[in-house]
Amino acid sequence: MDHFQYKNGELHAEDVPISEIAAAVGTPFYCYSTATLERHYKVFAEAFTGQNALVCYAVKANTNQAVIRTLARLGCGADVVSQGELRRALAAGVPAEKIVYSGVAKTEEEMAFALTSGIHQFNVESEAELEQLSRVASDMGKVAPVAFRLNPDVDAKTHEKIATGKAENKFGISWKKAQDVYAQAAALPGIEVVGVDVHIGSQLTELGPFMAAFERVAGLVKELRAAGHNIRRLDLGGGLGVPYMRTNAVPPHPVEYAQMIKAVTGDLGCQIILEPGRLIVGNAGVMISKVVYVKDGEKNRFVIIDGAMNDLLRPSLYDAWHDILPVREASADVALNPVDIVGPVCETGDVFAKGREMPPLKMGDLVSLMTAGAYGAVMASTYNTRPLVPEVLVKNDQFQVIRQRPSYEDMIGLDIIPEWLD
Ligand code: LLP
Repeated sequence: MDHFQYKNGELHAEDVPISEIAAAVGTPFYCYSTATLERHYKVFAEAFTGQNALVCYAVKANTNQAVIRTLARLGCGADVVSQGELRRALAAGVPAEKIVYSGVAKTEEEMAFALTSGIHQFNVESEAELEQLSRVASDMGKVAPVAFRLNPDVDAKTHEKIATGKAENKFGISWKKAQDVYAQAAALPGIEVVGVDVHIGSQLTELGPFMAAFERVAGLVKELRAAGHNIRRLDLGGGLGVPYMRTNAVPPHPVEYAQMIKAVTGDLGCQIILEPGRLIVGNAGVMISKVVYVKDGEKNRFVIIDGAMNDLLRPSLYDAWHDILPVREASADVALNPVDIVGPVCETGDVFAKGREMPPLKMGDLVSLMTAGAYGAVMASTYNTRPLVPEVLVKNDQFQVIRQRPSYEDMIGLDIIPEWLD
């Protein structure tokens, strides 16, 4: 459920008409709903009531500090994958002891910063990373709490670009090598083994692949304990999908997911760490864009909007479907016609929807690309020297810009002309 609904024939974010924000901020822009963010976090966290669970929001999905702080105020932790994300999470008010650090390529500098911060856990993804972490921690006189991210070789049944749990993916360490790496870690200075970690992919819409992976790691926890390792945390990653179409089959509810986890891991007595990203922010955000031109090609009608693939990359990169709604509600009896909704960027792939059945749209109309709160603004670029798309947060009847649109001077001023061209 989200708080982007039509009221009096116009799309609102909570109690604010979208057109009012567009008039103040200009288009395109991202708009997030506080009530939706809070609701999604609470539904997820409450599903784990009675289990010893720590919810660490995967901030990569949406790193705006206002979003992170909204969640941190509710007690949410953070999953980070870079020093930048760690700094953002800390700046937004997430306590270090609720932060886990994932990622295949943590550098020495990143490790040192995380050790100084005192994070909850490093999710280590290779022997080389383990050795480096041991060196960095020992030199600093610190001990790094470590979980190994194990690759369970399970098919997540999701888009190939966001599947991470197969043997051929770069992520994690083969589950078959678990005993070896835990033994290696036990012998190294500066390392304290605390848990096991797994994350098999994103936008999963079935429980089966999760269950297969969790059963595998639960079995490993028992074997590792039998070998003398004090495994007390189980990080189960993120990945629970969201519906991108209002009419689409609905992914499992967090309650079903939590029950399955309890059934598979409940007897282990581990702290369960969860890293949801998309589930928390996906439906809490939309991208608002304006129709620049409507043009009839030989075969298709193009609705050209002022948002582009550089602002919301998902359709170009993953052929992702985003519902697209006119901000002014179409009357129920109006005829729908297929159009291609495209952006202004000079790439054939700059397409949001092909042959989408839409009510009539004309120059100046606003449209809303739904379910754009996750992996939207964070993946934006300035391609074609388009200013980074701004972000707005709504709370009840208030809204505020939470990231400004940069000026052309800001953007162009980043380039440096070398002396010899002066
Ligand atoms: N934990 C780890 C270690 C991850 O790599 C990810 C996502 C998550 C948690 C959060 O997954 P979520 O709950 O959001 O599915 N840009 C792509 C998605 C990339 C996901 C990367 N890792 C997209 O737009 O679909």
